[in-house]
Amino acid sequence: ANNEMPKDEGIDHTLGLLEEGYKFILNRRRSLKSEIFETRILGKKAICMSGRDATEIFYTPDNFKRENAAPNRVVQSLFGKNSVQTLDGEEHRNRKEMLMSIMSDERIDQLKEITKQFWEKTIDEWETKYEIILYDEMKEMLCKIACVWAGVLVEEEELRWLAKELSEMYESAASIGPTHWKGRNARNQVEKWMKELIQKIRDKKLIPPEGTALHKFSLHKDENGELLDIETVAVEVINIYRPIVAISVYINFLALAIIEHPDEKKKLKKADDKDFEMFVNEVRRFYPFFPFVAARANRDFTWKDYKIKKDTLALLDLYGTNHDGDIWEDPEAFKPGRFIDWKEDRFTLIPQGGGDYLSGHRCAGEKVTLEIMKVSLDYLANKLDFEVPEQDLSFELNDIPSIPHSRIILRNIRRK
Ligand code: HEM
Repeated sequence: ANNEMPKDEGIDHTLGLLEEGYKFILNRRRSLKSEIFETRILGKKAICMSGRDATEIFYTPDNFKRENAAPNRVVQSLFGKNSVQTLDGEEHRNRKEMLMSIMSDERIDQLKEITKQFWEKTIDEWETKYEIILYDEMKEMLCKIACVWAGVLVEEEELRWLAKELSEMYESAASIGPTHWKGRNARNQVEKWMKELIQKIRDKKLIPPEGTALHKFSLHKDENGELLDIETVAVEVINIYRPIVAISVYINFLALAIIEHPDEKKKLKKADDKDFEMFVNEVRRFYPFFPFVAARANRDFTWKDYKIKKDTLALLDLYGTNHDGDIWEDPEAFKPGRFIDWKEDRFTLIPQGGGDYLSGHRCAGEKVTLEIMKVSLDYLANKLDFEVPEQDLSFELNDIPSIPHSRIILRNIRRK
């Protein structure tokens, strides 16, 4: 167990990461012929891991921890201080149980209903317009869905503001400079707004419906039996709102997929839930979103004859694992049908992380994402007619998050 780990030669590969984006780890995995290798990014040593086995090791409890793993700038804009993403052990478990407590079947059914209602309303508006930019429309619609589902109604004007600030948080996730500061400023503004709301709930001046995120999180007791401080409640409610708005990116890719694959669109005409899910899973597998997740080794251990020392920074390759030829046949082709006999595996389809929800950091909102996408796919593929005017539908593999350049313009939208 003393083999030397393959190394990405050179002093620093930050530029490579910026240039190659989502394919940074995959490219090196291929050239070094190894699912694990060492590199240097932003002046620091890191190991990169990719593939099914790597995912299993990464998500086996106690192998890795999140303490000090995410760069400070990501915590300041995307996650929020003391958020579930940064916690380990008991504290993480308690917080994650709180987050998962709003994901019951009943609550998810309610979410589907809310989503359908807002689609219907939004289509009414679209029918009066010449053309729309799908990405912008979806951000606002999803923000409304998030507000209603999480338990607080807001006025139209405030809503527009909120949708903008929340999207700036995830759009700036990988940026430095002015865009990063925009994201950081957005977080400060929204946290302030959210803290006032939570204070009103704690003071019983405002009563959100039973079982909603605002209701549950405001009253939640931590592992020591104490209420969370207001700032932490705000951070976790934003952890629900922000990524729901971010589903607008995936809805852009859903639209792109049906525009670029008319044969696959046709198959959706008589689709059942399973067909919609296969299509949605292929969109989540195929298109880029988060490139990797970061953690630190929680102890010294050995994997594939390589020693990994406690505290080593590790990046798990989400995009590359979703495009891994050892897992997926013809990985660079868009084929929803590949999921027909798929035996669900917690370590292969990992656009939203892998492993378990409670004992690990797998995305708390995966079900929310799937269901909102399935409802939206039915509208886009089956319930609407529209024209797709000349536009730049391409997207970059080094833009994080990547979104089609035109944000998808649809013209003359009509109900079928
Ligand atoms: C964590 C992706 C939507 C809530 C994560 C992680 C990824 C991810 C990659 C990190 C996994 C890890 O650290 O190991 C996505 C993508 C989404 C999405 C691509 C599509 C828009 C959502 C939604 C919600 C949500 C809709 C809430 C309703 C969370 C939370 C965590 C998380 C709370 C932290 C979990 C933890 O640290 O234990 N997501 N997510 N996400 N996501 Fe999502």
